[in-house]
Amino acid sequence: MPDRYAVVGNPVAHSRSPAIHAAFARQTGEDIEYTRLLAPLDGFARTVAEFRDAGGKGVNVTLPFKGEAFRLATTLAARARLAEAANTLRFDPDGVYGDNTDGPGLVRDVTVNLGVALAGRRVLLIGAGGAASGVVPALLGAGVARLVIANRTEDRAAALARRHGAPVAACGFDALGDEPFDVLINATSAGLSGAAPPLPAGAVAPGALAYDMVYGPLAEPFLAAARRAGATRLADGLGMLVEQAAESFLVWRGIRPDTAPVLAGLRAAR
Ligand code: ATR
Repeated sequence: MPDRYAVVGNPVAHSRSPAIHAAFARQTGEDIEYTRLLAPLDGFARTVAEFRDAGGKGVNVTLPFKGEAFRLATTLAARARLAEAANTLRFDPDGVYGDNTDGPGLVRDVTVNLGVALAGRRVLLIGAGGAASGVVPALLGAGVARLVIANRTEDRAAALARRHGAPVAACGFDALGDEPFDVLINATSAGLSGAAPPLPAGAVAPGALAYDMVYGPLAEPFLAAARRAGATRLADGLGMLVEQAAESFLVWRGIRPDTAPVLAGLRAAR
């Protein structure tokens, strides 16, 4: 019997995580089965408990349950505690271990796959919801010189920045353009409705990377806005998805898969 894992979300039907983990399992020879699990919006904890009772070993957690997953964990990795969100749960004999691999996944995609340094750089993070708060600790860990969080609702950006302190600052959209950034990351959900946050040319430093944490068509509105604002390096979040998956695989199985061939396979398939 393979060890069972799943991605829990709502919606979850289009998640590419099962294909990624199947590729990791083939590559490493680990005997696992990984499926999608749709949880009712008011039934995350129940869905996870049923999966665990049925022999499940762990889950990935996606929208909108990362905050609930954080609260459900009985032991937390430091980076999940800092992010106040968990995307990975491992069912241990004595409790539930929670981790957040989104931030490390983003940092690894930017620095290793895309070859863009974060250390010493000026970074703009757009959005102040769960997706944004999940990656702040990893960006700070990567040694950014300055991290400005810009959000439509400025108060939310200010609250997130206050939680971390220097070198994190906050602003509203009206202040964008006053300062150039080397790396600009969209962590809003605006792309879900075909929209993009405003991005004036003054925010884009020469040679800057514009990065959307979602992938495929959902990333297009922001990447198009970034192109119009003068960004020449653009990337969607497919690499982040593969990297966070590899880090979760490591949490569960103790082995870090080689992500490059899996990412290349996904890019070729679309
Ligand atoms: P997630 O877990 O995806 O971050 P969330 O916690 O609901 O989801 O946060 C959504 C983020 O996208 C917020 O930063 C939100 O801005 P507000 O705090 O002002 O609501 C941002 N967002 C959503 N739609 C947007 C839009 N059309 N333009 C700009 N920002 C948007």
